[in-house]
Amino acid sequence: MLKTHSCGELRREHIGQTVTLAGWVNRRRDMGGVIFIDLRDRAGKTQVVIDAGRSRAAFTAAEGVRSEYVVQVSGQVSARPAGQENSQMPTGDVEVLADRVVVLNPAKTTPFAIDRDDPVDETTRLRYRYLDLRRERMQRNLILRHNAVKFIRDFLGSRGFIEVETPILFKSTPEGARDYLVPSRVHPGKFYALPQSPQQLKQLLMVAGYERYFQIARCFRDEDLRADRQPEFTQLDMEMSFVERDDILDLIEALMVGMVQAVSLVPLAHTQFPRLSYAEATERFGTDRPDLRYGLELVDIGDIAGRSAFRVFAENVAAGKRVKAICAPGCATYSRKQLDDLESMARAQGAKALAWLAIQPDSGEIRGPIAKFFTVDQLITLTERLEAKPGDLILIASDSKAIVHNVLSTLRTELARRLGYTDQKQLAFAWVIDFPLFEEEMEEGHFAPSHHMFTAPKPEHIPLLDSDPAAVLSQQYDLVCNGYEVAGGSIRIHDQELQAKIMSLIGFSMTQAREQFGHLLEAFEFGAPPHGGIAPGIDRLVALMAGEPNIREVMAFPKTAQATDLMADAPSAVLPRQLDELQLAIKTKDKAG
Ligand code: AMO
Repeated sequence: MLKTHSCGELRREHIGQTVTLAGWVNRRRDMGGVIFIDLRDRAGKTQVVIDAGRSRAAFTAAEGVRSEYVVQVSGQVSARPAGQENSQMPTGDVEVLADRVVVLNPAKTTPFAIDRDDPVDETTRLRYRYLDLRRERMQRNLILRHNAVKFIRDFLGSRGFIEVETPILFKSTPEGARDYLVPSRVHPGKFYALPQSPQQLKQLLMVAGYERYFQIARCFRDEDLRADRQPEFTQLDMEMSFVERDDILDLIEALMVGMVQAVSLVPLAHTQFPRLSYAEATERFGTDRPDLRYGLELVDIGDIAGRSAFRVFAENVAAGKRVKAICAPGCATYSRKQLDDLESMARAQGAKALAWLAIQPDSGEIRGPIAKFFTVDQLITLTERLEAKPGDLILIASDSKAIVHNVLSTLRTELARRLGYTDQKQLAFAWVIDFPLFEEEMEEGHFAPSHHMFTAPKPEHIPLLDSDPAAVLSQQYDLVCNGYEVAGGSIRIHDQELQAKIMSLIGFSMTQAREQFGHLLEAFEFGAPPHGGIAPGIDRLVALMAGEPNIREVMAFPKTAQATDLMADAPSAVLPRQLDELQLAIKTKDKAG
């Protein structure tokens, strides 16, 4: 090794020892005759003192050294002079008096400072990701990620799970996104699909009798990117045989609690995760991934609003639409501009307008363009139901259930941000269960699966598949945390006939189903055990534990929102010869067309 110790290791007990350190120059201060270098490696920083009086050669070498040079230093560990200790640094009691300084490699001036957490434009960070990764914040995040994955492997290993790798070059396993395709050279015109998840393969491992499988699995989805979505990401993918829903929920709950407590400093809101049905979650929070760190719940006021003199509400209620409200504490004094901003957010979610009532802080008088359409009694009932006090602002949306929920859940999140509720450093996990088997809106005359097409209906709802498929509830469960969906899973269908029936309801003919999933349907004819599983998203979990707002901050080499890698310049053009080998030609889109 080119070093005897790491830069984070030296303490008082090393005083007097001769050591060799190697790392990057974090900072260099020239005091005339004496040069101080903070030498940094992954483990930490150590102060090195290069005194011309002690070694002229070391001093001359250090004179040429700049930030981020790679340097090897040999010398003696010494106590820092009294009063010059640095309690902020774990190595702050000591320094190394250099006898020898070797420049292992010089460095150009870096495009941003490595030794400070200054805000740096993200494009520059991603372009020079290897420099960004040198910074303390990124190191902390990647080490946290390593610890989380190690905890998961140990936890599941001790409970009889085995890790099995599944192929990346495979056939489409749809999870609702577009596939990434890889052309085959050997079979021109044919394509592999990168897995959106190992879903079918883990079910096949259950048919194969493995009983308890997991994998830290890379998944690929060509979809619109957001702060919590990347085109390639990592799941803890797992599957178990002979289980019921609660076996999986209990196991994952123990895993999450253990992992957060072992690797993260952020406290858990509950160690027993609340369970909400899909219906309850959407009624109370407008979304199936609620942030439970705060209230601001949606309240139905259809009965009051429907009897008011405000025509829009009365007509909507008569037409079976909804009127719901949320109460924003202390926001009655919002300016016209603040209200307009909220209204444009509501419109972006499909609302035609946003109604509001402001309860004046001193008088308790209720103001707002629609106040005059309500009787005093109606206003009293309404404020009581919302538990609104003087100084509060009530926001009201009326439309179809879906629009009202989208609008109010968006406003709920925005108000929570404005009120500082989302700054709370806490992880509020919860289960959402009893999802509908199919999405509410039909797609091209067919049902779309709410989770995926391998999810089992609740056994008692199977007869409804013939009479009222929209009413069928499934054995899907999602784990949510602070407004993010962090895991999704289900008990699966293990019966070939039921699987074929669900496929036909979602618009797959038997021929199509056999073409795409023939291997799975066939496997089900060879003794498939009852099974179920789940897949927590590692990136989202680590981002939450690290307190990071974007999963890019916990991935070593993430893509931009346009799915590009700025450092390597990917995707990029390929040589004509490569296209020829694949028998592919690039068709340029006619600009006019
Ligand atoms: P699902 O599609 O719900 O389920 O995905 C499971 C979890 O993976 C994470 N995730 C993502 N993370 C980052 N970027 C993305 N683009 C992205 N997409 C999903 C989320 C999500 O909760 N095969 C099923 C699981 C199962 O049924 O066992 C599946 O993939 O945290």
